[in-house]
Amino acid sequence: MTRPHTVFIQAQSLPWRRGLYGGGRPDVRTKMLSVDPKKPADSTCLVRYPKGWQRRDTHHVLAHEEFLVLEGSIRINGIDYGTHSYAYLPAGHVRKAMSSKNGAVLLTTFSAKPVHESGLPARAFYDKRLLIDYIDTLSMAWDASLADPVFAAGVAIKPLRTDPDTGETSFLYTSPAHRIPKGMLKPKWTHSMIEEIYCIDGEYVWGDCGVMGPGGYVWWREGVWHGPAGTIAGYNLWVRTVNGPLDNIVGSKAERMTWNPKYRPKLPAHLKKIAKPYVRPPNY
Ligand SMILES: [Fe+2]
Repeated sequence: MTRPHTVFIQAQSLPWRRGLYGGGRPDVRTKMLSVDPKKPADSTCLVRYPKGWQRRDTHHVLAHEEFLVLEGSIRINGIDYGTHSYAYLPAGHVRKAMSSKNGAVLLTTFSAKPVHESGLPARAFYDKRLLIDYIDTLSMAWDASLADPVFAAGVAIKPLRTDPDTGETSFLYTSPAHRIPKGMLKPKWTHSMIEEIYCIDGEYVWGDCGVMGPGGYVWWREGVWHGPAGTIAGYNLWVRTVNGPLDNIVGSKAERMTWNPKYRPKLPAHLKKIAKPYVRPPNY
């Protein structure tokens, strides 16, 4: 897996493209947030299903598909997925009917190129242990006990998934407003795994690379240092770890936090060309 370090890009900077790579769902629009540009396989993208979209044939996909509904709603096999609902459909999961009456935008990850095949998969291909067919995250309670005590002042988690074999995990992560580093000093930190972040709401301030607003996206490669970080507005993030369970490696040198850092992202060349800073809408 060689998806490039991406910290961070606002999804609003990316163009909508017709169809989904791999050839399935030609009538959707997608924004590709992260993929190996040389050999598109696993990816994270936004998928926009137009109003009235439907697919009625029995088929499956040769990749795990994970999604969080950002806007609108979609119906799959009789389940209605509305705002912030979540699913993890393993490779080979059979879709008999899919539709979106009023349209939807889904934050979506694929574990491989999403090749669509008609009919049922070979039985051994489908690992039902991985299936999470529906979570209504709006009805879950935030759990502060799940947050790393290093960062825990007021943050909380809604767990979505932990892979039974790899420990890779997806969750929602919220911070209250005014989470200010003590004395405005805080170290940088990193991880031994890849951390992926999508800012659903609020603002996350990276002292070293800018203010991330709603739509901010991160593919944080293992061992790369960032920070310090904090928030004045508070935020609600979708977070995923890749290549292992979550850990935090915190540096020993405290650095000065700043609330209006210039946008200085670390991006692959094709994103650097189009990246635009987040502009906070006035609240007066
Ligand atoms: Fe992190």
